[in-house]
Amino acid sequence: MFNREVYQNRRRILLEKMADKAQEGKRGIAIFTGNVEAPQNYRGNDYKFRQESSFLYYWGIDEPGFAAILDLDNGEEAIYGNDVDIDDIIWMGPQPSVQSKAEKAGVHRSAPAADFDNEVRKAVSQGRPVHFLPTSRYYNTMKVSSLLGIPAEDVRKVAPVSCGKASEELVRAIISMRLIKEPCEISEIDKACEIGYLMHTAARQGCKPGTPEQEIVGRMEGVTISRGWGVSFTTILSQHGETLHNHSHNMTITPGNLLLVDAGAESNTHYASDFTRTYPCSGRFTQRQRDIYDIVENCNELAFKLCRPGTTYRDIHIAVAKNMLEGLKSLDIVRGDVDSMAAEGIAGLFMPHGLGHNMGIDVHDMEDLGENLVGYDDDQKRSSQLGLGSLRMARRLHPGHVITDEPGIYFIPALIAKWKEDGTDKGFVNYQKLEAYNDFGGIRLEDDILITEDGARHLGPHRLPIKADDVENAMAGE
Ligand code: GLY
Repeated sequence: MFNREVYQNRRRILLEKMADKAQEGKRGIAIFTGNVEAPQNYRGNDYKFRQESSFLYYWGIDEPGFAAILDLDNGEEAIYGNDVDIDDIIWMGPQPSVQSKAEKAGVHRSAPAADFDNEVRKAVSQGRPVHFLPTSRYYNTMKVSSLLGIPAEDVRKVAPVSCGKASEELVRAIISMRLIKEPCEISEIDKACEIGYLMHTAARQGCKPGTPEQEIVGRMEGVTISRGWGVSFTTILSQHGETLHNHSHNMTITPGNLLLVDAGAESNTHYASDFTRTYPCSGRFTQRQRDIYDIVENCNELAFKLCRPGTTYRDIHIAVAKNMLEGLKSLDIVRGDVDSMAAEGIAGLFMPHGLGHNMGIDVHDMEDLGENLVGYDDDQKRSSQLGLGSLRMARRLHPGHVITDEPGIYFIPALIAKWKEDGTDKGFVNYQKLEAYNDFGGIRLEDDILITEDGARHLGPHRLPIKADDVENAMAGE
């Protein structure tokens, strides 16, 4: 948890932002529902607890069963939760009081959990606006639905452009704050990146012929469990890297294959890292692998070089797509004018995802609040093309943005066949050449980047080897 002043300051700014939206007396209340324990299979055996991210950001308490109200008319605030009873003490040991936890977040008033429900119902009965965020967890969805008397679907809805019945004003105010990371947050992300670096180092060291993929996953996840909270998302480690989010780890490392490792750490304060590297299972790339690897590596470097305040990440995605097409053209996989190919979205056949996403307390930061509201400026429209349309972060860059830079080239046989059948490639693709890559797999190379006043820097004290020679040298030394 940060110092109480951090949370007080955040709530003060939030109050100011919400004050712009309505006259005093008509602003209502903002409610924050922290997460409760989530059972895996029965109520005494829960998943590892993870706090709701906006609750964590404004109120800091990293424990189940808390909620908070910020009165937007008079600035009053309160934390709601229950003190432990003797049964809890028997199983969990003595715990600090709710009031002392509230004080650590700079909140002077606390009350039992049931009072939260009473306060919300009172506001509803008085006709005061009740601002809430779209919910992700089922329990909170049902709770808000029942307190406000609205259907659960309207509580959890995150529409592509705006929210259902959730408060778009509150969502926008929170996004505007959480997008720009404070120095204390950047320091935590640097720590998560260092753990991520160590995780990936363990994975690279474990990438030896004959080793089960699952064993490598275990070793790398052990690194973050022993230094931080755990993984920031389910580890992707696969020799079938052409499947973008491949969570099966049931193969054995086999020479000639590529191993794609996309994994990140979550620090004890719940800030994320997210890196991807792709390794030659034999320790050396074949020429065919290196040709594709170098294109992806070059795209990763290009994106980083282009990152600076004022440039949109959408434009950087497009510049990377063109660079990728140039590279694929040099291999005769695509043919024709690169600008025309880019305009037709041909890069989407090879990179059906966006160049990157925001990262912070969530690995895809604030995706629970709505992808377009988080990732797009009001003057930007999301593309319908495969690839560019999947871009989660398109915004004009500002100092304090934390984003991923993750170009990839994948040879997805089913997608290649479909484009061929449908003529989606508009004649730009040389299928005779391309189909020879059907057994190739995929390559993704991902770093985490902070936008600074005059450019960008890689997050974390160390950068994982990325140039093909450096990767091979690192593997040879292991
Ligand atoms: N690195 C996993 C993802 O961005 O979804």
